[in-house]
Formats: sequence, C-alpha cells, structure tokens
Amino acid sequence: MKSIIILIFILIQSPFIFASEDIYLEKAPIDLSDQPSLQKGARTFINYCLNCHSAKYMRYNKLLDIGLSKKDIKDNLLFTGKKIGDPMEISMPVAESKKWFGAAPPDLSVVARSRGSDWIYSYMKGFYRDSSREIGWNNIVYVNSAMPHILWELQGEKELDQKTGKLSLIKAGKLNEKEYDSVITDLTNFITYMSEPGQLKRKKMGFYVVGFLLLLLVLTIKLKKEFWKDIK
Ligand code: HEC
Repeated sequence: MKSIIILIFILIQSPFIFASEDIYLEKAPIDLSDQPSLQKGARTFINYCLNCHSAKYMRYNKLLDIGLSKKDIKDNLLFTGKKIGDPMEISMPVAESKKWFGAAPPDLSVVARSRGSDWIYSYMKGFYRDSSREIGWNNIVYVNSAMPHILWELQGEKELDQKTGKLSLIKAGKLNEKEYDSVITDLTNFITYMSEPGQLKRKKMGFYVVGFLLLLLVLTIKLKKEFWKDIK
C-alpha cells in the first residue's frame, strides 16, 4: 500500500519536476492548410536556411503541392545548376561547416518531428546578443547553440534580462514584432509540412474514414431496429 502511494505521488509530481527544468515554449500558430503561408515559408527557408542546412528528403518539385508554379520555382527558388527534381541539398561540405561553426548544421527535413513545431518557433524567436560567445549570439531555447541569428536584420537585436529571463529589443530590425512573428509562423509552417508532406492528405482521409464509420453506425442501428421490430 505504501509503495502504491509513493508511486502515485511520483506520477503526479513528475510532470511538474520536468516542467520546472524545461524551457518555456511558445505555441506555434501554424495552419498546414494555409497555402500562401506555406509558400512564404518555403521562400524564407530556401533563401535563408539552405545556405547551411540541407533538407535532402525534400525535393524542389514537392513545392508544386503547396501551390507554387513550375516557373516560379525555376525562376526564383532553384539554386543555380539544380534541377526541379533534385533534393534540397547544400554545397557546403560538412567538414567545412564544422570548422566554421564548431557543429555541423543538421539536415532539417524532419526536424519538426524530432524537435516539434513549438520548439522551432520559439528557437527562431529566442536569439539574443551575447558578447561572451565567439559567434556573438546565444539562444534561450537552445543554450549555446552554434547557430548565429540568421534573421537578425529582420528581427533586430535582443538582450537577455538575467533576472527575469526575458528578452527585450535593443536595436530595431526591418520588421516590427508582429511582422517578424508572422515570418517565423510561415517558416515553421513550412518546416512542419516538410517533415511529413503527406500529412495534409492523411488528415483529410481521416475525416472521410470517421465520417464513413458514423454513417455505417447509423445504418447499423436502423437495421437492428428493423430486424427486432416484429420480435418482442
Ligand atoms: C550560417 C549557417 C546557418 C544558417 C544560415 C542557418 N543555420 Fe540553423 N544551425 C546552424 C548550426 C551550426 C546549427 C547547429 C547548432 C548546434 O547544434 O549547436 C544549427 C541548428 C539549427 C536547428 C536545431 C536543429 C537541432 O535539432 O539541433 C534548427 C531548428 C535550425 N538550425 C533552423 C534553421 C533555420 C529555420 C534557418 C533559416 C532561417 C537556419 N537554421 C539557418 C547553422 C545555420
């Protein structure tokens, strides 16, 4: 009995124990059915992230699925020398990037599944100036991350208040906070889509299946009533 009580106590306690160690993640307000948002996210991703990261399980022609045209992809999004059926790879050799950053930028194809969309959203909003680090930046979500703040020109520069743990703007960027949040929402939306391009179809399929089962249930109940109507 005693051990059961202890077990229950641990089970109830543990989420809070973890919670106190965990960093606070903001909920990413993404919508996978929002095609314009996915398109904007794809543009940001290709322009800013593919320089260091690859997304080798994603092919350029998959962008047709989110409503971009072949011409648009070819004219604006393909790196020189790439074909539309090519995977999103980078030319920077891993050894080079390790030398520059101290850590190789990981492939981002499925990062939304390993880290979660909220993590990515909060990470992209979590950069701040840190003069004690060689790269000049740090991150509240991923402490001592080897990645510098790539979008600082857009967001501006932030500073960490050690007491409150909150970030505040010290130098304005090209975008205001709302505009930057919207860029990061679209980017996170696209990265989430990329981690499982089939999920839109799968979810739709799920609705059909559930709908069909409900219909079947109604028919079955009707049929049962019909069968038993004369007996009794
Ligand atoms: C200048 C090179 C560079 C660019 C450009 C860059 N990153 Fe990174 N990124 C890195 C490095 C290096 C790491 C590894 C950090 C570490 O492990 O300390 C990283 C790590 C990450 C991670 C964490 C992955 C994980 O699971 O550990 C995410 C997410 C990420 N980057 C997203 C992005 C996004 C989104 C963009 C585009 C807006 C971007 N990065 C652009 C260098 C870059």
